[in-house]
Amino acid sequence: MVVSHAILPPGLRIPKVASTLMWMRKPFALMETCAKRFGEPYTMSLVGLPNIVMTYRPETVKQIFADDGETYAAGKFNQSLSALLGDKSVLMLDGAEHLRHRRLLLPPFHGERMQRYGEAMLAATDTAIDGWSPGSVFALHPQMQDVTLRVILRTVFGFEEGPRLDEMRRRMKRILELGSWPPLLIPWMRVDLGPRSPWGRFRRAVEEGDEYLFQEIEGRRRTGARGTDVLSLLLDARDEEGKPMSDAELRDELTTLLVAGHETTATALAWAVRWTLATPGLVYELKTEIADARRADGTPRLTATRAAELPLVDAICREALRLNPVVPLVGRILERPVRVAGYDLPAGTPVACSIYLAQRRPEVYPEPERFDPSRFQGKKLSPTEFFPFGGGVRRCIGMAFALYEMRIVLARIFERVQLTLASPRPIREERRSITLMPSEGLLVKVAA
Ligand code: HEM
Repeated sequence: MVVSHAILPPGLRIPKVASTLMWMRKPFALMETCAKRFGEPYTMSLVGLPNIVMTYRPETVKQIFADDGETYAAGKFNQSLSALLGDKSVLMLDGAEHLRHRRLLLPPFHGERMQRYGEAMLAATDTAIDGWSPGSVFALHPQMQDVTLRVILRTVFGFEEGPRLDEMRRRMKRILELGSWPPLLIPWMRVDLGPRSPWGRFRRAVEEGDEYLFQEIEGRRRTGARGTDVLSLLLDARDEEGKPMSDAELRDELTTLLVAGHETTATALAWAVRWTLATPGLVYELKTEIADARRADGTPRLTATRAAELPLVDAICREALRLNPVVPLVGRILERPVRVAGYDLPAGTPVACSIYLAQRRPEVYPEPERFDPSRFQGKKLSPTEFFPFGGGVRRCIGMAFALYEMRIVLARIFERVQLTLASPRPIREERRSITLMPSEGLLVKVAA
């Protein structure tokens, strides 16, 4: 790589340690400061990583997302996740191998298929809500994590409620807990200094999880047992040459789907609830939409299909993903020299699109800091101005799944309970590995 000799866009002239700490603690503030001072593009310097060229204007985002995967390599950019996801994960791959995995993974996540998962999504939400006693105050984020983890284990892995699901939940939670410690994002923190060191403990937890996963894959192959879950479809999937996925590939992809799909959706839900509760009149409007739908259907409770169709619920989910994108940027590494946003960048340069900055441009979103679901009602925004799920050949595979689940969970919560925000402190974004969640896990109170 010859990146260090290239002329890069301007950036903050502060020590790398200082900008890394800001990136860990206040990534949104850091991006705003840089965008105000330098505009697009600017350079972000982080400890242990090459300088990243940051972009966010629609023309540049379009150029990056239009690539066929040969020039802008996302797999190379995502390498910090490889210890958990494995080197055969779709997130780690580039070029032809990435496309092969993507083609195998996409069919189970097709929009229409989601409908068969609606009941499991409703049931997981009801299980959580049943545990919220009137008058209690609790952090909502862990509750949302429980819901989304249960949903993935049932719909993707095909586990039924019972001891196997509980054991898998325990092992996966431990991995995600140990792995979400933000310092582990720094490459030189990832050293195994024995079972008590942060990385050592994490590695051992991953091995425990793998043991269970390989057992499950082996058992399903042996018995031929299949259901409507994603794993069943992947076991039978064949690529263009008729080749099935190997056990190692299945392990990596299952872990990827779990990691990529669980924390992200839980966090997005926590933000959606946060903004709904903080916006005057919105809870009333939402409850009215839900009650009207139920009355029209003549059902005692919302059905999954109906919950997923409610326009205000959908607009709230999208507006929350605009204002608080849970993944603040997507990145690529240049495979060859390219002119990006007016700079001739050499091969090897990391280039990122800031989802956060793109989705707060006042030219597109007047009063960008205001939570306003009407921005999305009856409108479709351009994929270069609203891209919480990334874009192009790397766009999130679980987008339809996540939006479907968000609508169902959000509608069910506001159908069944009356919540208020309960923290006396202002709510900030707080880092959990690569996602940004509401501080204190979003404290809420259930009406007595
Ligand atoms: C609100 C929830 C979610 C958000 C905000 C989100 C966001 C993202 C983003 C930003 C990317 C990177 C895209 C890029 O580089 O251009 C991504 C990729 C991915 N996501 Fe999601 N995601 C969510 C839920 C899910 C779910 C539920 C699943 C599956 C169960 C999933 C599976 C994946 C996979 C497999 C990739 C890799 C795609 C590739 O590299 O080709 N995600 N997601």
